Amino acid sequence: MNDHAVLPDLAPLRDWFSSYCDSFRTSDLELQRNFDLKEEHTRNVCRNASLIAHGMGPRFEMLAEVAALCHDLGRFPQFRDYHTFKDSESLNHAHLSAQVVKQHRLLDFLPEVERASIEVAVRMHNAFQVPEGLPALTADLLRLLRDADKLDIWRVFAEYFNAPEAERASGAGLGFPDLPGCSAEPLAAVAAGRMVQLSALKNLNDFKLLQVSWIYDINFPATLRLIRQRSVLERFAAMLPQDREVLDVLAQVGRYLEGRLGESAN
Ligand SMILES: [Fe+2]
Repeated sequence: MNDHAVLPDLAPLRDWFSSYCDSFRTSDLELQRNFDLKEEHTRNVCRNASLIAHGMGPRFEMLAEVAALCHDLGRFPQFRDYHTFKDSESLNHAHLSAQVVKQHRLLDFLPEVERASIEVAVRMHNAFQVPEGLPALTADLLRLLRDADKLDIWRVFAEYFNAPEAERASGAGLGFPDLPGCSAEPLAAVAAGRMVQLSALKNLNDFKLLQVSWIYDINFPATLRLIRQRSVLERFAAMLPQDREVLDVLAQVGRYLEGRLGESAN
């Protein structure tokens, strides 16, 4: 499918996204703050996607931006209708994003194979793992989207956590109580080199550990470099309790990150 030498202009899609965001505009400050959060998140995921895709060819870079622009469209109706970003208490926002894409025929400017790949990447971007057996283009876009998304969720969370409570976008902490300490199950998962399951979370510190454990799920060397450049691990360390067990698992994730960076430098 390399016969479309002319790259499509993404300006109409970017404009559509701006008017889509505008269509949710409300005088309810609480709602609007959460919509703004997702608009800014989407724009940052687009930038991250371009950074990671850089050097993988202009066509792939374009598709990566399209996937990023579409990935969280479902967040807007989700928050409007349920006042939460917690999928388990509302609906699967990634499935909803894919529905919005189809309903508005956003990808009609692309050939069928590319359209299908982006739809699958959008629909699966929040799955616990990347499924086996996907076509190569779909798997590449999905892996890239997941990396680009994580990079910005880390930023959102650090900003949320460091903002005064009155200014926090309520949805960003997923409503977990800010209790002292970390629970045993998330700590054990990170210590075992596994990602923490959402169902294991009891408090906000556990949610921070879950986000730290995403470092085990990074696909592209460029993302690993951005994690180091942006001091992601150090920022989470500063937000977590300074208990021995916590420091130990953070050091372990740090060694894992350095190991992967070393491998990719060879
Ligand atoms: Fe998402």
